[in-house]
Amino acid sequence: MAQAEPAAARVTLPILDEAFKANPYPYYDALRRSWGPVVPIRLPSGVEAWLVVGHDWARALLADSRLCKQPPRLGGQATPPAYAPAHRLFEHLLMLDAPRHTQLRAVLARCFTPRRVAALGPHIEEIAACLIERIASCSGGDLIADLAMPLPYQVVCTLLGVPAHERPQLQAWLEALTMADFDEPARTVAIAQDFDDYFCALAQRKRAGDDDDLYADLVRACARGECAEDALPALGFLLLAAGHETTANLIGNGMHALLANDAWPRACADPASATRTIEELLRLDGALETATARYAGEAIDIAGVTIRAGETVFIGLAAANRDPARFERADQFDGTRAQASAHLAFGRGIHSCIGAGLARLEALVVFVALARQLPGLRLAQAPAALRWKPGLITRGLQALPVRC
Ligand code: HEM
Repeated sequence: MAQAEPAAARVTLPILDEAFKANPYPYYDALRRSWGPVVPIRLPSGVEAWLVVGHDWARALLADSRLCKQPPRLGGQATPPAYAPAHRLFEHLLMLDAPRHTQLRAVLARCFTPRRVAALGPHIEEIAACLIERIASCSGGDLIADLAMPLPYQVVCTLLGVPAHERPQLQAWLEALTMADFDEPARTVAIAQDFDDYFCALAQRKRAGDDDDLYADLVRACARGECAEDALPALGFLLLAAGHETTANLIGNGMHALLANDAWPRACADPASATRTIEELLRLDGALETATARYAGEAIDIAGVTIRAGETVFIGLAAANRDPARFERADQFDGTRAQASAHLAFGRGIHSCIGAGLARLEALVVFVALARQLPGLRLAQAPAALRWKPGLITRGLQALPVRC
């Protein structure tokens, strides 16, 4: 694996290097020791940015309004001009600043209530039991493809009121978007248009009916004048995209950590402590390596360096969650850790994850069901042979073969 070089003016972050993605934590440690909490980086694409690797600074900057989403250098738009036809879809909550963000977030929060999340519990249990039964009947399988990916996808579609027969098409578009080459915006723009058309048509249908799902509620909020109709496709798209792979990664990374650390038998013996175990798993190896990009709206001084106005900042959630200055024995799994919930896995500040309650519920249901149905679960491949998805922001396994 490439070494963090303090002598260089800027560190090239090896996010395409499989060894780095398999275990980026020693690298982040070295960066923290050599550079301090904020590191000037370059991505393989040539993009230059700052990476925040210290917990206290990460925590503070997540809630710092001097970091914004719509930089003046892009004309106040969060996406480059080549993506202009897709602005309506891509300029969603995560890409907005106050006051537009404040208004839309409030509308979503009124509809995405803890009661709505809790009501999904029996549905999640049903899906989990069925998927796990299928793994049991084959004496094993791939926990990512057979459980971690399909479960959150079905749940988020139910949350949004997407009919079962339309789900495969949306999934195909999501996958195509993940694979799209950002040097060829035309393909991305075409998929964005498909999503936009879909969520406009879905809104039309919800308007005519009396469905009791989140998207129908958002449509009703628009009809009452609480937000503009043309904000609906971006809200639907963001919930679908943000609620799927993240939760899949939590389930996959979490089960990997438990099985690779021989912690699964103990976790099975005490399902009552699953809630605390999940917080520790979110800290130890969460679903996102960094938060989404932010831009300095003005010069910001941090620990002896100045981030200049307009510069890009990535807040390293994974690095911060392993900062030894915040967490003792930060690299070890400790299901009894008192401070685990000080992790930053769901972000903080105005963009903090609005789906955290749902993600926690899904993980809880899955871990408890796995402990009950497959207590003898074990890895079918050595941890060193497992492959992780490339890229800067997400952190997840490509596959997790298991036997039971
Ligand atoms: C383990 C699972 C999840 C993790 C680790 C996670 C993590 C995060 C993080 C770190 C952010 C803030 C990003 C930033 O500041 O740049 C965020 C925002 C968001 N998440 Fe999640 N998320 C998860 C699941 C979900 C689910 C299940 C949903 C909804 C169905 C969801 C919906 C959202 C939305 C809408 C935002 C944007 C909020 C805003 O900008 O106001 N997430 N998530």
